[in-house]
Amino acid sequence: QGNASASAGKTKAASCAGCHGEDGNSTMPAFPKLAGQHQTYLVKQLQAFKSGARLAPMMAPLAAGLDEQTIQELANYYAGNKISTNPAPKLPANDDDDAPAKTPEQEKAELDALITKGSDLYRNGNISREVSACVACHGPYAEGNKPASFPSLHSQHADYLIKSLTDFKTGARSNNRENMMHMIATKMTDEDIKAVAYYISTM
Ligand code: HEM
Ligand code: HEM
Repeated sequence: QGNASASAGKTKAASCAGCHGEDGNSTMPAFPKLAGQHQTYLVKQLQAFKSGARLAPMMAPLAAGLDEQTIQELANYYAGNKISTNPAPKLPANDDDDAPAKTPEQEKAELDALITKGSDLYRNGNISREVSACVACHGPYAEGNKPASFPSLHSQHADYLIKSLTDFKTGARSNNRENMMHMIATKMTDEDIKAVAYYISTM
C-alpha cells in the first residue's frame, strides 16, 4: 500500500468516474459511493470482482484489466476522499395507480416511522428474529471498522444499500454466501432492509 500513490489512482480513476463520480461520490443511487471507504475493503472488493468471487456484470470486465498496483492506487485515491451527505430521503413514488395520493404530512409520517424503525434495528438488532445489531460491526456512526475491513456505510445511497442487502440475502452477492452478512440478511424482511437502508443513508 505504501508506495501505491493516491495521485496515480486519481488519474486512473477517470474510467470509473462515469458511474462512481469523479471523486467517488456517485450521484446515481444504483452506483455505490466509494469516497471515504476503507482502503482494504475497496481492495478486497476489486480483487473479488476480478476473480469472479463477487459477481457484478458491470464491474467484472473493468476489474479484469486492473493489476495489483492499480487496484492499490485506486483504493488509496477513493479512501482519501470525503463522502458527500445525501439530500433528505423521499419515499419511492407510489406505482399503484388506484391508491389514494398521500398528503405531504402522511408522506413525512411514513418516512419518519421507517427511519425510526431502521435506527432501532441498526442499534439493537431484532432479538426475536435473531438479527444481529449492525452497530457491533459497522460502528455507532456507520463508519465501519478500518482494522477489520468492515465497510463504512454512512451516507451511502439507500438504493444501493437495499440492493446489497437483498443480494446478501439471496446469495447473489456470492463471495458472501456463507459469511456473516448472508446469515444476517436472511433473517431480515424486505421491510427491515428498506428501513435500515433509509436510516443509514441519512447518517
Ligand atoms: C461497485 C470500483 C468502474 C458500476 C464497485 C465497488 C468498487 C468499485 C470498489 C464495490 C463498492 C462497495 O462494495 O461498496 C470501481 C473502479 C472502477 C469502477 C475502481 C474503475 C476502474 C465502474 C463503472 C461502472 C461501475 C464504469 C458502470 C458501468 C458499479 C456497480 C457496482 C460497483 C453497478 C455495484 C455492484 C453490485 O451491486 O454488487 N465499483 N468501479 N463501476 N460498480 Fe464500480
Ligand atoms: C458489508 C449492512 C451487520 C459485517 C455490509 C454491507 C452492508 C451491510 C449494506 C455492504 C456494504 C457495501 O457494499 O458497500 C449491514 C446491516 C447490518 C449489518 C444493515 C445489521 C442488520 C453486520 C454485522 C457484522 C457485519 C453484525 C459483523 C459480524 C460486515 C462485513 C461486510 C459487511 C465483514 C463486508 C463483506 C464483504 O467483504 O463483502 N454490511 N451489516 N455486518 N458487513 Fe454488515
